[in-house]
Amino acid sequence: MTVPLHDSALLKAARGEKVPHTPVWFMRQAGRSLPEYLKVREGIAMLDSCMNAELITEITLQPVRRYGVDAAIFFSDIVLPLKAVGVDLDIVPGVGPVVASPVRTLADVEAIADLTPEQVPYITRAVRDLVGELASVNGGTPLIGFAGAPFTVASYLVEGGPSKEHAKTKALMFGAPDVWDALMRKVADVSAVFLETQVAAGASAVQLFDSWAGALTPADYVRFVQPHSARVLERVGALGVPRIHFGVGTTNLLDLMGEAGADVVGVDWRTPLDRAIPLVGDRSVQGNLDPTLVFAPTEVMTERAAAVIEAGRAARGHIFNLGHGVIPSTDPDQLARLTEFVQSYPLD
Ligand code: CP3
Repeated sequence: MTVPLHDSALLKAARGEKVPHTPVWFMRQAGRSLPEYLKVREGIAMLDSCMNAELITEITLQPVRRYGVDAAIFFSDIVLPLKAVGVDLDIVPGVGPVVASPVRTLADVEAIADLTPEQVPYITRAVRDLVGELASVNGGTPLIGFAGAPFTVASYLVEGGPSKEHAKTKALMFGAPDVWDALMRKVADVSAVFLETQVAAGASAVQLFDSWAGALTPADYVRFVQPHSARVLERVGALGVPRIHFGVGTTNLLDLMGEAGADVVGVDWRTPLDRAIPLVGDRSVQGNLDPTLVFAPTEVMTERAAAVIEAGRAARGHIFNLGHGVIPSTDPDQLARLTEFVQSYPLD
């Protein structure tokens, strides 16, 4: 049976409508935990694979075929659009994005070009191919497009690589607010165009990853970050697709991340859903099983998953996910069991 995508469990939950089962997908469901991913990536650098429409399509479909999850997440990376506009960066295995010349001055910001959809033809092509393929997978599976939120992308540009404290980023934010504002406008624009390109090609929903926003106080988030994320979310909202807004360690920011313009607030595993739900108000929630629980005995994992589903019932809508990305050493068979458990959990 083919269900119009509009009536898929994922999109219904995002809109807060009654669902036949709790929809489930996993952040980083495509990637190193899958032997079929390691096989097609052999000898191909991460960013090269993100610029090859056939590989993007194959890698995006791998976890959908294997698990029958309720959504595909577009295979790319939050720094890909920066690469596309000419920023000298690489994704170093086991490290993450590394930027050759970190951004420190207004001139550095101005040197970053704007993104146009024509610069990423492989994105448009891969999304179109995927939407065509996914229409008949498990009766119709929506594709989630994504981008990095301005703060998280800016952190890589300013630090020059992954960072725990984001000290250089915050020093720029506090010490040079004009440069900060210009940088955030630039990266917000790049992320908005990246999302618009995916939606124009057929993505059914988007997720804005502000993975490192948890480094900020609520007041600084409101002043330095929220207006920029809000502009990105407003631009894609105008295209009529649901927007998921996710960050790590954001217990103190969940209300503000919702108010930035999300339909669904992604919650990491540290914040129990029963605490998160009153904070997000009339929005749906996504999450939030501790990603390490897949290493526990199956019955322990499913018992905890049941608790997440039960807590999620108090929300306007609930999309099941892990509280952050799939850990590369995860056993795919355990994720298959988790998917099956969530999709067959009785809601009535
Ligand atoms: O399956 C999916 O979720 C879709 C693909 C996806 C990737 N990156 C692929 C990837 C998505 C949605 C992202 C987003 C992303 N990239 C975020 C936000 C999500 C989050 O985890 O909070 C961030 C912070 C990045 C930056 C980044 N890129 C990191 C931290 C890493 C990991 C570094 C490492 O090697 O451990 C990457 C590389 C990356 N992006 C990989 C994948 C599958 C691993 C590279 C590889 O397989 O060689």
